[in-house]
Amino acid sequence: MEENQQSRAHFGSKFGVVMAAVGSAVGLGNIWRFPYELGMNGGFAFLLVYLLCVLALGIPVMLAELIIGRRSRSNVFSSFKVLSPKGKWHYLGIAYVVAAFVISSFYFVVAGWSLEYVYQAITDQFSSRSPLELSQAFTAFSTDAFRPIFWTIIFIFLTAIVILAGVQKGIENISKVLMPILFVIIIVLCVRSVTLPNASEGLSFLFYPDFSKINSSVVLSALGQAFFSLSIGMGCLITYGSYVKKDNNLLKTSVEVSVLDTLVSVLASVAIFPAVFSLGINPAKGPELVFITLPNVFMQIPGGYVWSILFFLLLALAALTSIISLLEVITAYVSEEFKVKRRTAVFVASLLLALSSSLCSLSLGEGSVLKLFGMPLFNFFDYISAKVLMPLGGLFIAIFLGWFCSKKMVFNELSNEGQLKTRVYELFYFLLRYFVPIAILMVFINELR
Ligand code: PFF
Repeated sequence: MEENQQSRAHFGSKFGVVMAAVGSAVGLGNIWRFPYELGMNGGFAFLLVYLLCVLALGIPVMLAELIIGRRSRSNVFSSFKVLSPKGKWHYLGIAYVVAAFVISSFYFVVAGWSLEYVYQAITDQFSSRSPLELSQAFTAFSTDAFRPIFWTIIFIFLTAIVILAGVQKGIENISKVLMPILFVIIIVLCVRSVTLPNASEGLSFLFYPDFSKINSSVVLSALGQAFFSLSIGMGCLITYGSYVKKDNNLLKTSVEVSVLDTLVSVLASVAIFPAVFSLGINPAKGPELVFITLPNVFMQIPGGYVWSILFFLLLALAALTSIISLLEVITAYVSEEFKVKRRTAVFVASLLLALSSSLCSLSLGEGSVLKLFGMPLFNFFDYISAKVLMPLGGLFIAIFLGWFCSKKMVFNELSNEGQLKTRVYELFYFLLRYFVPIAILMVFINELR
């Protein structure tokens, strides 16, 4: 299916829009990043701060991206050109495409790991391993020169197929099917986790409101987490917004997406921690928690074989719907700006991503020289996207829409040309102009210190 500016593709239904955006938002960030942050940073107290960040910062930036996208009906680069023809803002659009490329490069690697673990779960490889062997197996696998790259390339291939099928038939349809499945899997895992003996210890680790842990750096990490988790600050939702029809209520969409994304983060925590505590295992951070601790947990609970398959399937599906949105940012840009067929754009983008993801994966190998600023390429890309590109991206989106576009246009877009009315629009505008830029600047400065 070819799509160009004249007959631009669009999402077919409102449900499809929400599912596609939730698909982008719900990903590795929810499943292995959030639970740890919640548990370590004051439990319920962190949750309150996080909710505040989502409300006061996440929803406004998400809404701003959707407005820019839907108004301009363009890819990230051209969207700025359409809304500000005389400005130089579109050069910024290139930074968003680069950000999508950088995030995809390391995200594909972890997505590939999840496929390997689906395979290992299905072939029942965890049960024969001791906790130490599970840890050694993960290190051996992730630092291997070939196997992770093999899975990464398979993942790129799967993603490319979805993108090739087009916006409605590919992205929308797969999200409409996969997101409900993902919800069911996560709820089943939650029920399993909280019904284990001593599950309450894990629940209290997560939800005990420890306000003494809340300090400025915890507030700032909640902000950073909100950014990454909601897929905001890099034009992803500008691209998706450009496929949203005029009768869609953008405010409602942003609220629904944010609520669902946050819900999945909380459910993922409930699925993971009670199970970990039930076995008296120390919760670890990031990749170790998911790829070492959890296989260990699964092997010790009844029905662990099935739970492990379900969990890694959940991880792979969540990663797939997120990475689709990243590849779509690049594809829309390449096909529209270089006037090539969508097929060609997907092919070129996939090839380049296969190359950069492979380099990211190889950078984790022992003694690898693939380093930037003293960090393996993988870690550097992770660092620069969440801590530099996304905060800066969000800052510029807020400044662009809040200060360089007409208020009338913004309100027309919010209210579907005057058909919808609510006082919240004024609040949104205020947050966008003042609160969001200041808050993001604070995150950014703090992270760079
Ligand atoms: N929101 C995704 C996650 O939580 O894993 C990550 C992500 C996807 C970030 C798409 C940015 C993006 F454009």
